Amino acid sequence: VTLADILPTLAVSLADKVPAHLWPDTTTQDDDLHVAGVRLASVAATFGTPVTVLDETTVRARCRAFRTALPEAEVTYAGKALSCRAVLRWIAEEGLSLDVCSAGELAVARSVNFPASRILVHGNAKTPDDLKAALAYGDVRIVVDSLDEIDHLAALARTRQRVLVRVTPGVDAHTHRAITTGTDDQKFGFSLATGAASEAVRRVLSHPNLELTGLHCHIGSQVRRVASFELAARRMVDLIAGLRRDHGVTIHELDLGGGFAVPYLPEDDPFDLTGYATRLRVALHYECQSHGVPVPKLIIEPGRSIVATAGVTVYRVVTVKRGPTTFVAVDGGLSDNPRPSLYGARYSVRLIGRTSPARRTPMTVVGRHCEAGDVVATDVPLPADIHAGDLLAVPCTGAYHHSLASNYNQVCRPPLIGLHNGTSTVLVRGETEEDLLRRDVG
Ligand SMILES: Cc1ncc(COP(=O)(O)O)c(C=O)c1O
Repeated sequence: VTLADILPTLAVSLADKVPAHLWPDTTTQDDDLHVAGVRLASVAATFGTPVTVLDETTVRARCRAFRTALPEAEVTYAGKALSCRAVLRWIAEEGLSLDVCSAGELAVARSVNFPASRILVHGNAKTPDDLKAALAYGDVRIVVDSLDEIDHLAALARTRQRVLVRVTPGVDAHTHRAITTGTDDQKFGFSLATGAASEAVRRVLSHPNLELTGLHCHIGSQVRRVASFELAARRMVDLIAGLRRDHGVTIHELDLGGGFAVPYLPEDDPFDLTGYATRLRVALHYECQSHGVPVPKLIIEPGRSIVATAGVTVYRVVTVKRGPTTFVAVDGGLSDNPRPSLYGARYSVRLIGRTSPARRTPMTVVGRHCEAGDVVATDVPLPADIHAGDLLAVPCTGAYHHSLASNYNQVCRPPLIGLHNGTSTVLVRGETEEDLLRRDVG
């Protein structure tokens, strides 16, 4: 029996304490929750629900943390995590580069004049339009992913085009299967083990208008083990040494991708960025020295770890169904967050807008969509008196939410509101039914 069992009010106040590592850096708590000096319940009142807020201070702080931990590296934000003009402006101001994956993501970059020399273009199946948009942008680097793409790019490029070759290094990142990208026999990159990577390099070298500047790999997302990154670095240096020996080429850039894990639940540990930087630097220098190759410039591509904890989504409870499981249904779900159904992702949830002395009991928060798998969070402790009209806040929703959102059930996508120094600004407005009908021209 703990003190919290004897004093239920103590249990409630312990349960209400915000786990700082899941929430934006500027989160403060009195009898309600505030981010950047703005009460979350007032954001819901002003902009409606669901609504996702993004704390600018947290995004900028994460950029600085990466640049401080690895000052020698080119830190490249993976725009797929969340791409909108404001975020790209902040990223540019913080000195980061940008990884884009489509002509659409390039269009957002172009709209804020993101410098071409700091853009890397990715994609396992870049379309002709993607390649043309990349070439038209100017001096970007293109990470080639197939032999077809190499030949196609060489045919399209009018000036010498810088490329990196994406390699699959055969490293298990020990993460969810759907976000594992470094193992053999899959759609991304050229396998190291089968010799496909060396063949791709030969193909690039056979085109005089392509300039091989580097190699790239990305082993997966939500990677917790630094050892997986070290192993990838060692294998890539081995390849660099082989290419120098066999083809006399010097690789100037080594891009080890992103994938740094982010905590979603109170019990998750934050990723040890300083430990990663130290261990990676040692591994890279040791391997290069023992192979007698110059240390290439390091590139890393954090996406989730730049924006995830800057975001909070606020939903309104529509109904509560009590039974063996208590289902709390909210006014969003699968269309603004498909991650639980894609990866079994788990979240924490808290009541905002009012305090409740009621006992905390496990409940399942579900969405409004026509899928039984439309779950926001399973078995989360919420006050027993929860009812329709209450507001729930879900932290860690900055990455792969806005960018993965859909219009399933013709539900409009929520707005993205920037919070900074006590003010709220619409970054991306909420969708309207007119927006939906504008495209439906049949
Ligand atoms: C090539 C590449 N780089 C970087 C990232 C970013 O990964 P994360 O957001 O987990 O850091 C991804 C994610 O899919 C990726 O495919």
